[in-house]
Amino acid sequence: MPASRASHAVGAHRYIPGVMPETAATLETVEEPSIADQSSHVPSQNGMSRSNEHVAIPAARQSGNGRSISVPEIALDVSRRELVGDARSIPLADCSVDLVATSPPYWRKRDYGVRDQIGQEATPQEYVKAMLECLSEWRRVLRPTGSVFLNIGDTFHNRRLAGIPARVEAAAADDGWIIRNRIIWAKESGMPDPAKNRLASRHEYVIHLVISHDYYYDLYGYSQFIGNGANPGDVWHINPRRHMGDHLAPFPTEIAERAIRLACPRRVCAACGAPRRRIVERTRELDPSRPQARRAMELAEAAELSDAHIAAIQATGVSDAGKALRVQNGTGRNTARVKELAAEAKLALGGYFREFTFPRRVTAGWTSCRCKKRTEPGLVLDPFMGTGTTLDTALSLDRSAVGIDLVLPDA
Ligand SMILES: C[S@@+](CC[C@H](N)C(=O)[O-])C[C@H]1O[C@@H](n2cnc3c(N)ncnc32)[C@H](O)[C@@H]1O
Repeated sequence: MPASRASHAVGAHRYIPGVMPETAATLETVEEPSIADQSSHVPSQNGMSRSNEHVAIPAARQSGNGRSISVPEIALDVSRRELVGDARSIPLADCSVDLVATSPPYWRKRDYGVRDQIGQEATPQEYVKAMLECLSEWRRVLRPTGSVFLNIGDTFHNRRLAGIPARVEAAAADDGWIIRNRIIWAKESGMPDPAKNRLASRHEYVIHLVISHDYYYDLYGYSQFIGNGANPGDVWHINPRRHMGDHLAPFPTEIAERAIRLACPRRVCAACGAPRRRIVERTRELDPSRPQARRAMELAEAAELSDAHIAAIQATGVSDAGKALRVQNGTGRNTARVKELAAEAKLALGGYFREFTFPRRVTAGWTSCRCKKRTEPGLVLDPFMGTGTTLDTALSLDRSAVGIDLVLPDA
């Protein structure tokens, strides 16, 4: 059977994470524009600020199968700004930020000794009110495709757990935020705890909030980074930083890195702000370390199955009938030709056909938008900047960053 026909027939072969299939089909793959314009899009500010430019070194630009691909190119235009200000009043334009990644002061933990500080409120309710004011300001500066990753811990007060993360999460949901994940940051070690009648607290939360279901998300890129399969979990085992320096509560670089890799685009359109989303394609390669996968590949080779056959299996999935019609995306909507190819392939492979439904995937390119204008780095905001962990991490990942704090750390 000629391979050429069917690879065309199987449209579901390509997908864009975070985009509904119908939308994905209308987006095109483009070479990422070279960066002619070096100017930063962070608006200039009044008041105290620090900024410096950063030049990143280009990474290797090849897909797993050796093809060259369109990827966001060398980020020469990333910028870093540190501003004195209040997390409830951000001196940035509406819809200009891609990701807020931050760790606010926890309730009744540390007194930073500055006016307008958050964290020393008399009651959990007042603390939640302050956090809601922050969230509402961050919603203003976020693009519709943006996210908030909020690292927040709980407090024992008067021998009771205050339930702060749950209160903040519930109040945010009531205020219209969409909660996408409640990630547990699990710590193997921690400060000694004197309590004799309860367990030591060894976890915090990282709450992922969005304002629209069309938020940017790069699960594929994150999975590649984490390296444990296509469905990474919501428990992050990360130990607190050992060297805390002068600051009382720096948070680990790895939390910022995970949030940025997941939810801050490398490049966005400088005109409309649309993120460049990764286009992922399935290959016909399987994981050779699994005996079942090796057997499936042997059978496919013996039966001379074409790429079209494999693509047809992937399009129809585990089943193209019965309950799958209700629970499986795209099931039952394949053409008669695709169904015929899938049936042939399934006959040749027996039960091993399932192996080809989770093949290796590769980055095939990045989406574009109608503007056809230059792109710029995605922008990360940390409104409780502290020592600037988030900003450092953002720059190391070719994203621009703005940090805000009531007090700037010593330069
Ligand atoms: C938990 S620390 C942030 C730690 C930071 N993620 C790091 O790695 O260093 C909280 C920071 O929030 C700042 N802060 C407290 N209230 C604030 C407010 N209303 N607006 C902006 N920053 C505030 C404090 O000065 C402190 O630096």
